[in-house]
Amino acid sequence: MIHQWWRDAIIYQIYPRSFADASGDGYGDLKGVISKLDYLRDLGVDAVWLSPFYTSPMADAGYDVADYCDIDPMFGNLADADELIAEAHERGLRIIVDLVPNHSSSEHRRFQAALAAGPGSPERENYLFRDGLGDDGELPPNNWTAVFGGRSWTRLTAADGTPEQWYLHLFDPEQPDWNWEHEPVRELFDDTLRFWLDKGVDGFRVDVAHGLAKAEGLPDQVSTDSDLGFQTGPQWDQDGVHEIYRRWRAVLDEYDGDRSLVAEAWVEDPERLKLYLRPDEMHTAFNFEFLDCLWDADAYRKVIASTMAANESVGAPTTWVLSNHDVVRHVSRLGLTVPGSSHEGLGLRDEQPDNVIGLRRGRAATLMMLALPGSAYLYQGEELGLPDHTTLPDDVRQDPTWTRSGHTRVGRDGCRVPLPWLADAPAYGFSPTGESWLPQPESFGELAADRQVGVAGSTWTLYRDALRLRREFGLGRGELTWLDAGEHVVGFDNGDVRVLTNVLGDPQPLPEGWTVLLSSADVDGELPTDVTVWLKRS
Ligand code: GLC
Repeated sequence: MIHQWWRDAIIYQIYPRSFADASGDGYGDLKGVISKLDYLRDLGVDAVWLSPFYTSPMADAGYDVADYCDIDPMFGNLADADELIAEAHERGLRIIVDLVPNHSSSEHRRFQAALAAGPGSPERENYLFRDGLGDDGELPPNNWTAVFGGRSWTRLTAADGTPEQWYLHLFDPEQPDWNWEHEPVRELFDDTLRFWLDKGVDGFRVDVAHGLAKAEGLPDQVSTDSDLGFQTGPQWDQDGVHEIYRRWRAVLDEYDGDRSLVAEAWVEDPERLKLYLRPDEMHTAFNFEFLDCLWDADAYRKVIASTMAANESVGAPTTWVLSNHDVVRHVSRLGLTVPGSSHEGLGLRDEQPDNVIGLRRGRAATLMMLALPGSAYLYQGEELGLPDHTTLPDDVRQDPTWTRSGHTRVGRDGCRVPLPWLADAPAYGFSPTGESWLPQPESFGELAADRQVGVAGSTWTLYRDALRLRREFGLGRGELTWLDAGEHVVGFDNGDVRVLTNVLGDPQPLPEGWTVLLSSADVDGELPTDVTVWLKRS
């Protein structure tokens, strides 16, 4: 059997504009990534997923792609991408790139051509243009709202000033949705997949994978519950997405090297999510239910069991994730009054997390996650225990959510702050000039990589040790057996390793006959609150 690396891989997410800036302009770039590949190898990850680095006007930080087969000058050029792929492979690191197929940038040449060609033209078939309702087409074609706020439709104005058709955008107006019913759109993405597969990438993270197919006739949304705005309704998780993924899977299977697809699909029910993971579709999907789980032992037991059961029924591994570029970092979420509650961003007017408690719980949550069978995602900087920047001034915010929501939602900038590499350098070593596209909080100084790499007890060292032991004990391919370890303890055996996480409970005696392999905080005969231990038989 082939290795199927994606079954147990630890995948490190790089958000390129905030990782490492080699050019000195205050934005991270591909040369910066290349300069840190040794760091990633030493940490012990298996693969790197890069958020978009394609040509983009950056209306949504690169998730608005104007050319899927070129690199934005902010990040470098195609030669840098080739070098990055080669250098990563040389170090045994696989590369996953981000594919953004639900929408393009409004600067994409096909959208520009559609605008120029006018209503009824074949060019307009590439996107979802519609006439408006009402006597003069002055009303949008339906009631859908955009994820970032406002409506999902924007009306065009013709050159002579008369109002024209509307076009659909589930996100920003500068991110028009592709029409996936249109064969040339499908061909464009086949070509895009092949372009990057030919360059040697090992897989794709598929952005908004639950959005590509829309319900026939684009009917009104019935529920307008904003909490479900990204999950249910005629825009999301329509059965039509699956034939697209079967087609892509066939493309990937033409290539050697075990290339893989991971779905970003915010689907509420694991029974629906598993449909994306049938043997001829995607390989894995992000487990956002796990990310969203409150800091509560019973909730964790349930989400781990239900997501594993759903995935096993289609033969797919389960993935685990606690942080990414769209949510408040888990250290900060776990330091809130309702620990673990999900938030896309926190600002000056919100509750401020207790990052000391949050870090203690964050380390415990990470050790629980890394002991589970399957594959796991780490978000850049979590190995340093970084908190979110929750006091960013309003006037530096760049996430479109902030403006599109009429300044009611601060958006996701707080988790996207450039990384601290050197405690005593300008911009904490993010760039050689001290430039940084977002200001970093002072707390980043003592958390900088140079204060943690190789330092006993640091969060970096905890992650490195966990990854090493995970490999040594084969935890990623292991079998989970639940233990009854008490109401407040998440307890399981994975092969020879016993894992106990005390979630908000009183200290518990450690079992006799077991030795501590690793722990998220000091343990001395007992398991204190908010701590995870890995044990092996003495
Ligand atoms: C995904 C990305 C997010 C982006 C959105 C639109 O959810 O993770 O960052 O804004 O899609 O592309």
